[in-house]
Amino acid sequence: MNNFSADSGMLFLLITTIICCNFGCSQGCLDDEKTALQQIGQSLGYGYEYFYPGSSDDCCRWDGIYCSPTTSHVIRIFYDYIKEDEDPGFPVFLDMSLFSQLKELQELHLRGNNIGELTNPEEICKLVHLQWLDLSANSIEDAVPPCWGNMPSLRTLNLSKNRFQGNLTSFLANLSKIESIDVSYNLFEGLLSFSIFANHSKLSHLDLSYNYQLEVETENPTWHPRFQVQHLLLAGCNLNRQSGQIIPRFLSIQYNLQTLDLSSNLLVGSFPTWLLHNVSSVLSLRSNSFVGQFPQGHQKKSTLSKLDISNNHFDGHLPINIDLFLPQLKGFNASSNQFSGNIPPSVVKLKYVESLDLSSNLLSGVVPVGLTYNSPLWYLNLSNNSLDGELLPENCSMPNLTWLLLHHNIFVGNIPACLSKSLSLKLIDVRHNHLSGTILSLPVFMQLGALLLGENQFRGPPPQQLCQMQMLQFLDFSNNNFSGNIPSCLNNNSVWRKKFQANSWVPVDFTTKGNSYLYQGIPLTLMTGIDFSANILAGFIPDEIGELAELRSLNLSQNHLTGHIPKSFKNLTNLESLDLSHNNLTGQIPPEIVQIDFLTTFFVAFNNLSGRIPSNEHFSTIFSESSFEGNQELCGEPLQRKCSGNDNEDDGRKENPKENAEEGLVDKPLFFYSFVFVSYAVGFWSVIAPLCIGANWRRKYFATIDGWIEYLLTR
Ligand SMILES: *[C@@H]1O[C@H](CO)[C@@H](O)[C@H](O)[C@H]1NC(C)=O
Ligand SMILES: *[C@@H]1O[C@H](CO)[C@@H](O)[C@H](O)[C@H]1NC(C)=O
Ligand SMILES: *[C@@H]1O[C@H](CO)[C@@H](O)[C@H](O)[C@H]1NC(C)=O
Ligand SMILES: *[C@@H]1O[C@H](CO)[C@@H](O)[C@H](O)[C@H]1NC(C)=O
Ligand SMILES: *[C@@H]1O[C@H](CO)[C@@H](O)[C@H](O)[C@H]1NC(C)=O
Ligand SMILES: *[C@@H]1O[C@H](CO)[C@@H](O)[C@H](O)[C@H]1NC(C)=O
Ligand SMILES: *[C@@H]1O[C@H](CO)[C@@H](O)[C@H](O)[C@H]1NC(C)=O
Ligand SMILES: *[C@@H]1O[C@H](CO)[C@@H](O)[C@H](O)[C@H]1NC(C)=O
Ligand SMILES: *[C@@H]1O[C@H](CO)[C@@H](O)[C@H](O)[C@H]1NC(C)=O
Ligand SMILES: *[C@@H]1O[C@H](CO)[C@@H](O)[C@H](O)[C@H]1NC(C)=O
Ligand SMILES: *[C@@H]1O[C@H](CO)[C@@H](O)[C@H](O)[C@H]1NC(C)=O
Ligand SMILES: *[C@@H]1O[C@H](CO)[C@@H](O)[C@H](O)[C@H]1NC(C)=O
Repeated sequence: MNNFSADSGMLFLLITTIICCNFGCSQGCLDDEKTALQQIGQSLGYGYEYFYPGSSDDCCRWDGIYCSPTTSHVIRIFYDYIKEDEDPGFPVFLDMSLFSQLKELQELHLRGNNIGELTNPEEICKLVHLQWLDLSANSIEDAVPPCWGNMPSLRTLNLSKNRFQGNLTSFLANLSKIESIDVSYNLFEGLLSFSIFANHSKLSHLDLSYNYQLEVETENPTWHPRFQVQHLLLAGCNLNRQSGQIIPRFLSIQYNLQTLDLSSNLLVGSFPTWLLHNVSSVLSLRSNSFVGQFPQGHQKKSTLSKLDISNNHFDGHLPINIDLFLPQLKGFNASSNQFSGNIPPSVVKLKYVESLDLSSNLLSGVVPVGLTYNSPLWYLNLSNNSLDGELLPENCSMPNLTWLLLHHNIFVGNIPACLSKSLSLKLIDVRHNHLSGTILSLPVFMQLGALLLGENQFRGPPPQQLCQMQMLQFLDFSNNNFSGNIPSCLNNNSVWRKKFQANSWVPVDFTTKGNSYLYQGIPLTLMTGIDFSANILAGFIPDEIGELAELRSLNLSQNHLTGHIPKSFKNLTNLESLDLSHNNLTGQIPPEIVQIDFLTTFFVAFNNLSGRIPSNEHFSTIFSESSFEGNQELCGEPLQRKCSGNDNEDDGRKENPKENAEEGLVDKPLFFYSFVFVSYAVGFWSVIAPLCIGANWRRKYFATIDGWIEYLLTR
């Protein structure tokens, strides 16, 4: 049977070949290559469409497969992010000998397919034509086989974001014709001397970043580069540990350097002004130990479009003429230094600047008018300084503004009306200032994911416009003087109600359950919260809050709320944290609340609740006395107070007609809550996201998240 099909395959092939040679028709794919491709597909668990697209028998027409028009051999495979599993499942074992059957293969792209281990990895060394190998964004845990370092045609190698280990020196030393190497985010270790690259004359892209066990040495032994590199990324790889933590000297004879990333290396010295001229486009010195002042005085013009000097020990004033020597800057990050004085007018004159981060310095004074007037700013972070005056100058107009972070300053006044010109805002964080006044007319920000007003002195009712902002995910109104009622119309919100799956992301660090988690680019539905705590809100908790089924955290504590805990709360099926403590709530704790599966934080202490604490194994074990204390008439586990027979009768369902009337009257706006910090810290997603996100979606997520972050930071 097997022989028969093999024979008929050969025959078919022969006939096809003859016909095609004679009549010039396009040739189909070779049978043994097709079989290999099918096996590759099976071991990767790819979705059906990759194998039988339109039921084509000709594998050359399959998605992602390219054959040579002359020989019909498969020459390129593009299988990036094609895993269609609903469930991530276990990492895949991939047998590389399957590929060695594709003898003419030139490009192999297997990015992002949950590959955990390669079996027979040395087999791909048989592919003498292989020019491009991309195994990035998998979780391959292997030493690199020695023969990979001798692949004769290899030009582009991407092993980024895996768990490859071992000795980079022996691996890279012989690849002297290579053009692009990316081995970032792996577990390579040992000492790597740049002298091994001396004869790699075509090298134009080299990324060794974030191999924390690696030690990269550029000074000893002395060597002379025969390459002119364009993109050099040496972040987080213990650069020049043994030669005084200095900036590599060979950079002064690199004439095409476009990107240079030296971040996270403990480099020392004063501001390397020369790099502003030696690098043409993107320069990052982030997270080192540079000291001293930003160069003042007249400098030669630089063409840099992005400059990141954040998280060093620079001090003094920002230069008064930065606009003259860095006129092209689009992104400038000077965060986390000790810059002092005012935001200088020179920053204002950077007329292309779209992303400006001056946060966590010692800056004082007001936000200059020019910075916000008719400005291309897309990201503005001035948080954690000592800036004062109004949040933004009176006639601000920033049509593209998306991220606005002004928290932890000493701003006064109200939310500026001119923000109505910034309707793309996704995040407003003005927590911890001295803002005050009533918020009567807040612009309706249709894209807004997080509105964080906590720790100010705002008063009056929460603005009704909240109910029109469909994308809201986090609301922090805590620690203000908001009064009136919690708006019942909050149930208009689509994200909280899960009317649709939101797909824009807000990076936030959200405190729930007493812990602060770092979220890297949250799909809006994943983490949601409302924090109205520590205000003077009164009246009932609207029943409608129970419709916000996507809510994960609700904090209404320390207000003057009255009435019952709405029974509708049983519909808050995703709630993880509920804090209603320090109010004047009455009646029983609705027994339905024990049905909320994920509830791990629950506080109703210091109210006037009564009756028996509902229980099931979940409820009575995980919550302690402190969740319930300070309620005179509450009884049962975990409180000491035993229930008498009567306690069961008041089940909290007897609505008090007087209170109901009150509720009708106080159908005013509302308050919500949550704690949010914005942050780009990376750790979280790699762990949690794969667990929470549906699979189809996950593929796209991983495909886009890097792009998105890149976009976020670079636009
Ligand atoms: C290597 O792959 C990673 C992840 O897939 C990607 O972000 C990076 O841009 C690639 N490197 C190069 C040089 O293309
Ligand atoms: C590099 O190539 C040379 C010559 O082809 C060979 O002798 C040597 O063993 C190779 N080195 C490594 C580390 O593979
Ligand atoms: C790595 O390999 C090179 C060349 O084969 C060798 O000289 C060096 O000692 C090795 N380094 C480590 C840390 O094993
Ligand atoms: C580079 O090439 C030169 C001359 O061809 C040779 O002397 C030198 O040893 C080579 N360096 C390395 C690191 O292979
Ligand atoms: C880099 O800067 C140094 C010091 O200013 C200078 O000598 C060298 O010519 C510059 N190199 C390039 C490629 O611009
Ligand atoms: C600026 O740098 C700080 C510290 O390195 C970092 O946390 C922040 O995300 C950066 N901002 C931008 C916009 O890249
Ligand atoms: C604020 O800045 C100070 C130093 O200027 C730093 O120590 C602190 O961590 C920063 N706080 C936040 C919330 O970023
Ligand atoms: C806002 O962004 C758009 C599209 O990127 C751009 O065309 C426009 O010039 C920007 N607006 C300002 C004021 O820079
Ligand atoms: C608005 O901004 C322009 C341009 O900077 C400035 O000339 C004007 O005085 C400002 N108007 C007000 C009312 O601040
Ligand atoms: C709770 O209600 C009692 C009686 O109605 C009242 O005396 C007390 O001030 C209220 N407490 C709060 C925090 O509103
Ligand atoms: C809970 O939701 C269900 C269906 O979504 C609805 O029928 C029910 O009335 C809700 N319960 C309460 C108490 O709101
Ligand atoms: C803004 O700056 C603060 C303080 O440096 C930092 O913690 C935060 O991550 C920055 N926000 C964003 C969105 O980059």
